[in-house]
Amino acid sequence: MRIGTLELPPGAGLAPMAGVTDCPMRRLCFENGAAWAVTEMLSAKGYVYAPQGTRAMDAILARGGDEGVLGLQLFGRDPEYIEEAARRLSGRGFDFVDINMGCPAHKIVGNGEGSALMREPERARQVVRAAVKGSSLPVTVKIRSGWDEDSVNAAQIARIAQDEGAAAVTVHARTRTQMYAGRADRRVIAEVKRAVTIPVIGNGDVRSAEDYFSMIRETGCDGVAVGRGAQGNPWVFAEILAALKGKPWTPPSPAERIGLILRHARMQADWLGEPLAMREMRKHVAWSIQGMPGAARVREKVNSVESLEALGELLTDYLRRLS
Ligand SMILES: Cc1cc2nc3c(=O)[nH]c(=O)nc-3n(C[C@H](O)[C@H](O)[C@H](O)COP(=O)(O)O)c2cc1C
Repeated sequence: MRIGTLELPPGAGLAPMAGVTDCPMRRLCFENGAAWAVTEMLSAKGYVYAPQGTRAMDAILARGGDEGVLGLQLFGRDPEYIEEAARRLSGRGFDFVDINMGCPAHKIVGNGEGSALMREPERARQVVRAAVKGSSLPVTVKIRSGWDEDSVNAAQIARIAQDEGAAAVTVHARTRTQMYAGRADRRVIAEVKRAVTIPVIGNGDVRSAEDYFSMIRETGCDGVAVGRGAQGNPWVFAEILAALKGKPWTPPSPAERIGLILRHARMQADWLGEPLAMREMRKHVAWSIQGMPGAARVREKVNSVESLEALGELLTDYLRRLS
């Protein structure tokens, strides 16, 4: 798949997730064969007002040396901030700029940003136009099916994005009202695919190679982005790549899972410092051991872990009891 001038490697990409797709998480996904990744979302207005940034903003803008094709995601509703942020950030080492028209969070939507733009096609047009004008990189747009089930307009917004020069569109096939519940409606992705000629990236509920292939088969989409399916499971990308190459796939053993959590925790500690990293790791640990025997007790205990050493002891002990 191509995004403008960018040729992407085979396989699925990592969808943007605020609070999740930080630099260490993306690096683990790239290691396992993610074809591309997108940062957590950054406020265009926040950046233009305070380009020196807060620690959180700096963290979003940092890129690991070993990362693959990486998009920076901007959100906002003011064309002038979007244009200015896209202009200034085009030179920061990212490969493309992605515009968020999918975030359902109240505080974002309340400002008319994120998925609220799905209700304002003309404003959405101006936002894409501004991003394309400001950016020297390809611009992609991430949309939802629509605002609610009575206003499914992904195909209309995708056409607008294409008309304004977007290089690809990612469709999370849920409405804003659905938030993250229920099943993604793949018929909407198929409809978008019929409506535009730019690449369409299908998104929603892909957690395995089987889901990856059925997403492509049922929608005709050009690429697939994986969100929650990569939480605690960066191997999902390796599984998809193995299937693409017709190779057998062996899921990671408990020891491999625990080994990866501990490495993730060390990367996180290098990145954020140990105390903050341990708090961040709570959710990753929970995702990684989900479904394993005794996971609930580990989840409980990890909440009071404050050092790498204590996390190492907790998980090594857990592994010993598992075997
Ligand atoms: C915790 C979390 C944070 C998210 N943050 C973003 C975000 O910053 N920008 C965005 O476009 N989508 C965001 N999403 C949506 C995902 O990119 C994706 O569209 C959605 O989760 C559906 O895909 P999935 O079923 O593979 O998870 C987020 C999703 C989750 C679960």
